[in-house]
Amino acid sequence: MGGNRIRIAPSLLSADFSRLREDVARVEGGGADLLHVDVMDGHFVPNLTLGPFIVKAIHRAATTPLDVHLMIDDPATYAEEFAAAGSSLLVYHVECREGGPETAEKFRSLGVSPGVAVRPDTPVDAIEAHLPLVDMVLVMSVMPGFAGQSFMPEVLTKVRALREEYGFTGDIQMDGGIGPSTIAVCAAAGANVFVAGSAVFKAPDPVAAVADLRARAEEAFKNHR
Ligand code: DX5
Ligand code: ZN
Repeated sequence: MGGNRIRIAPSLLSADFSRLREDVARVEGGGADLLHVDVMDGHFVPNLTLGPFIVKAIHRAATTPLDVHLMIDDPATYAEEFAAAGSSLLVYHVECREGGPETAEKFRSLGVSPGVAVRPDTPVDAIEAHLPLVDMVLVMSVMPGFAGQSFMPEVLTKVRALREEYGFTGDIQMDGGIGPSTIAVCAAAGANVFVAGSAVFKAPDPVAAVADLRARAEEAFKNHR
């Protein structure tokens, strides 16, 4: 990872799991860079989704790297299983029970690219000690748990702070309410990896939606640099 290339990561939470292979192939054909997989344990967030068994099935259906967003209390405990299931990136939340910097080290030791996520109500200084250890920071732009929520523009100050005050040169991902009307302000603030669930899978043409998001982000990110 790195290099701050614009990457679009459709979130499979909004895909049709009864025809997952077709939905994966469609967004891969449309130029998705990553497939975002939302793992929720019903404890860290009030929703329950899927575990390593399904990640493995998605991996078999995919040619694109899997970006696995762990909204669970025990990311270190389950790290081996998610790594073995085919995750390329594994992202833990700083707010969870096992949200210390050693979780980033554990992910890296398993050959997976580590990322750390912050909820909208968590200040960016909470992840200062994690920054030298991770390849990516996920700045959540909704409260984690559900697709289809409204984008929270106030989190953009955290993206700017990561670039300007902390000098973070890794990838900055945003997740939650990202779509044609919100992606440009995020890229202009310095984010370069964009998760989109509803904006891709609920669009009339998911292929065109991926291309449109990328074009908007690339244009705005140029202006950031
Ligand atoms: C929410 C998840 C998101 C979700 C995004 O907790 O982390 O990845 O799928 O969905 P949209 O793009 O619809 O907000
Ligand atoms: Zn997510």
